[in-house]
Amino acid sequence: MSTPERQRRIYLDGARGRKPTVPIDHEKLEEAARRRVSPEAFAYIAGGAGRETTIGENRRALDRYKILPRMLRDVSGCDTSLSLFGNTLNSPVFTCPIGVLDLFHPQADLAVAKAASTVGVPVTFSNQASVSMEECASAMGDGVRWFQLYWSKSDELVASLVKRAEDCGCRAILVTLDTTMLGWRIRDLDLAYLPFLAGRGIAQYVTDPVFQELLKDPEPELEPPKITLTSLSNLYQMSKRYPGSTLENMKTRRAVEAVRKFIAIYSRASLSWKNLTFLRQHTKLPIVLKGILAPDDALKALDHGVDAIYVSNHGGRQVDGAVGALDALAEVARVVKNKVPILFDSGVRGGADIFKALCLGAKAVGIGRPFAYALAVDGERGVAELLQNYQADLRLTMGLSGVRSLSELNPDCLLPKSS
Ligand code: FNR
Ligand code: LAC
Repeated sequence: MSTPERQRRIYLDGARGRKPTVPIDHEKLEEAARRRVSPEAFAYIAGGAGRETTIGENRRALDRYKILPRMLRDVSGCDTSLSLFGNTLNSPVFTCPIGVLDLFHPQADLAVAKAASTVGVPVTFSNQASVSMEECASAMGDGVRWFQLYWSKSDELVASLVKRAEDCGCRAILVTLDTTMLGWRIRDLDLAYLPFLAGRGIAQYVTDPVFQELLKDPEPELEPPKITLTSLSNLYQMSKRYPGSTLENMKTRRAVEAVRKFIAIYSRASLSWKNLTFLRQHTKLPIVLKGILAPDDALKALDHGVDAIYVSNHGGRQVDGAVGALDALAEVARVVKNKVPILFDSGVRGGADIFKALCLGAKAVGIGRPFAYALAVDGERGVAELLQNYQADLRLTMGLSGVRSLSELNPDCLLPKSS
């Protein structure tokens, strides 16, 4: 749906007495989502590391740049299409990998995959998804999908996940580098809540043949099990989420074993540039490094022959006091000099933000928390509406700024930042 149509649709619906179910305003959307999910789920999604100054800095960086609109440029045929990783896309927007989506809606990743493919937006399957990549891929026809990898302690598991991603039609592997450990997330710590311990967000693991093999060598218990109401309820919930019969899973404690194995192997803090060779040997898909912020890291990434760089600070969830992602993008783009495409996320809350990131060198921009909020509010339909709203807002911002195609976006469309 082109911009004027999308906008007209909303106003026409309003004239018939129907308001958008997914609020257009970001704060209202966040509030609507908060009312629909548990306090633990909301803390997990909305929160960031430490005092959450990085979340604020992401916004400040985006707000410091100003758009400088140009007039009388015939913007009647504004074109937002582009080519990326061998696909033609109708807009420079994709969904970020977000784990544990079943905290927000029972259809979780499945709803997002369907919505994104309906709208024509690439979806990134998270390594920490609640629904396996195969199930999502089979529900989205030719819809473009990418896979986000967390590099576990088991190289065999890494190879297996990458192979599965290839087999189910993913067109790129996005390796997230900034989460070798989870950040110090105060909201989650205060609630003493980590969704993975309840068996959530490990669907890619429990459906994996290598992970199933690893389970044959169980991890030792960290401490003797204590029977409390909460631990029993957790056992039931995780057994229900595990493939097969819930009762059987409870009896065999298979789901508990899986969680324990996951915790033991989830991340590899020793990961270094050397490991990238292994990935290159195991896939022909484009390799994208997610979480690059420093220009010297971007140069190293180029030296290591990666296919794209993804500037992100994980939405401020990892390092409190980190650089705003847009400020990092400007510096990274300066050294990358268009040698490889740059993806970007962190803090994007509307078309103007996407516009600014594209002007500063991003080829495509990731929508993060907003789509998860829309999922909480109205499932698949909510995500589809939100993505269309972002596309429409971008088109309008481009047209009203005198820009007819993505190739015309450059730093001259902005005023230099003021502090
Ligand atoms: C994330 N993010 C993330 N990134 C990743 O590579 N793998 C993952 O599984 C997750 N999981 C995840 C869960 C939740 C609840 C959030 C909010 C974020 C980070 C995500 O891909 C993206 O970098 C940020 O969401 C971008 O910031 P904003 O736009 O959400 O502020
Ligand atoms: C997070 C992990 C899953 O940000 O990436 O919570």
